[in-house]
Amino acid sequence: MQVESRIERIEETQPERAAGSFRCPIEDLLDDLHERLGRLDDGGLPTYIPELADVDPSLFGIAVATVDGAVYEAGDSRVGFTLQSVSKPLTYALALDVLGAEAVGTRIGVEPSGDAFNSIALAPETGIPSNAMVNAGAIAASSLVAGAAPFAAVLDAYGGFAGRGLEVDEAVFESERATGHRNRAIAHLLRTFGVIGDPDVAVERYFRQCAVLVDCRDLALVGATLANGGVHPLTGAAAVRPEVVRQVLSVMASCGMYDGAGAWMSAVGLPAKSGVSGGILAVLPGRLAVACYSPLLDGHGNSVRGAAVCRELSERFGLHLVRPGERQASPIRSAVDLTAVRSKRVRTLEEREALAELGSRAVVVELQGDLGFEAVEQLNRLVRAAGRLEALVLDLGRVARIDPGGHVLLGELVASLRDAAVDVRLAGLGTVPDGASLTASLGGASSTDLAVEACETTLVERAGIGTPVTETELAEHPFLARLTELDRAAVIRHLVPRRYAAGATIARQGARADDLFVVTRGLVNVVDDSEPDAPRRAATVPAGGVFGEIGIALGGRRTATVLADTDVDVHVLDRRGLAALRQGHPRAYAAVLEELLTGLALTATRLDREVAALTAG
Ligand code: DON
Repeated sequence: MQVESRIERIEETQPERAAGSFRCPIEDLLDDLHERLGRLDDGGLPTYIPELADVDPSLFGIAVATVDGAVYEAGDSRVGFTLQSVSKPLTYALALDVLGAEAVGTRIGVEPSGDAFNSIALAPETGIPSNAMVNAGAIAASSLVAGAAPFAAVLDAYGGFAGRGLEVDEAVFESERATGHRNRAIAHLLRTFGVIGDPDVAVERYFRQCAVLVDCRDLALVGATLANGGVHPLTGAAAVRPEVVRQVLSVMASCGMYDGAGAWMSAVGLPAKSGVSGGILAVLPGRLAVACYSPLLDGHGNSVRGAAVCRELSERFGLHLVRPGERQASPIRSAVDLTAVRSKRVRTLEEREALAELGSRAVVVELQGDLGFEAVEQLNRLVRAAGRLEALVLDLGRVARIDPGGHVLLGELVASLRDAAVDVRLAGLGTVPDGASLTASLGGASSTDLAVEACETTLVERAGIGTPVTETELAEHPFLARLTELDRAAVIRHLVPRRYAAGATIARQGARADDLFVVTRGLVNVVDDSEPDAPRRAATVPAGGVFGEIGIALGGRRTATVLADTDVDVHVLDRRGLAALRQGHPRAYAAVLEELLTGLALTATRLDREVAALTAG
């Protein structure tokens, strides 16, 4: 019950207080921060916007949201406050998204100014605002967006970041409109230098966006959306494009905390934005966001308690963007050769012997994480160290991202290996973002298993073994070949021949399993289709092979469906036939058991080796 309620809680991302003895350490942590840092009472309320001077200075809320949409809260996390300057990165994002970085770049720079947020100045070299985080740049961004969209669209876009519809606090808006002469001066300066059009329209829009109401939970989700490349973790909707997010977070990192930005970046190390109402948002890209609200401000206009929360979380949990000496997980998850792993295709004795001898010349490499410079560099080293290589399978199913440079570099490595007659096969790209473009340029198998099978075939062919048998006489079938003539004849008397056309179902998953199938013509596929959308090949058995060993040994239900891949001839021994053989011809019965045992032992050995190879080191 408790487990269930936890799961629901994560799904709803509405952390209620933990029930009974099961406490949540994250909530405890935030409660503790709230309790201790709530005792800080330095700083003061802003007085230049009268409505903001009129709030309870003891208010203090904290929320943390992850990129997968869990939200943890403490204190006054549901008390509303106006965004003020925290709106600046959002409008800047909107301007970049709608007008593009180039057009925006002609009006707003990306350099830290080192000045206070409300400085009445433009960058001397360019004549445009230094960046979009100071008021001059933010008013310019509001003006740019005003030329392209009504304010309702801005509010909608903000709602896209928060994941719910937002509103303007009219009282705060009016309060700033009545007193915001300094911002009007900035707007007129911008007008004088031709950065914006109508200064009144620009400040009106700017005051309105500053007065948008949020709470800490909203703000944490705004941050999680930025951390998540612009996609809201709960709604799944894209608020802006990932390139926009990169630029916005970069400018937040260098300019978000105004004249305290350098100290903030070196101590806390998170792109952040503060607002004069006491809100603060810090974003750790790809991971999480921290949002706080506490109205007492330091000399730079940043919330004293909010900044302290961010600083402590960053220090204690190593959230700083710069992580000296830290290494990423290896991009190579595993690398095993074909002496250790095999496809699900049942091979003849001759083929098995060839693979045992030559298997070390074919390697299956599983890559993970980013497919970029390091992945290709390590792969390159691995194939060079492998010595003589005939075949290479690259399983990319766990690659999270393919970067364009990595794509090119991998293409070059694959081309050079193929030039050197190495059979290179890619697999697992179906679920990888942008995997289709790699499949288009380098080819790709639908599964690693099929790629491994193809490489086995390459090795077998290069070993000079002819095309595999598609037909065998029953008497010469390997399953019976080692029996004496008398025993063989006794067994054959209990075998019932059956014929299937290509595509026919030979046995169905879930049906009773008590037959052993001896294949004398064609090819059958054993498919686990318990997940109909992702059928998985359990084995491919050619003429000369058998299947159903587990069924005849244990009875029960079939765990896989068996399909005729080509026209197929099989000879079936059922449990009744086996019992009759035991009765009438114990020696033949013992010989059959011995064959079954050998087959099962070979399978067990292969699986054992595979597990050991894949879990090693
Ligand atoms: O323009 C102003 O002065 C306010 N509407 C916003 C300034 C602000 O939030 C500065 N941040 N700490």
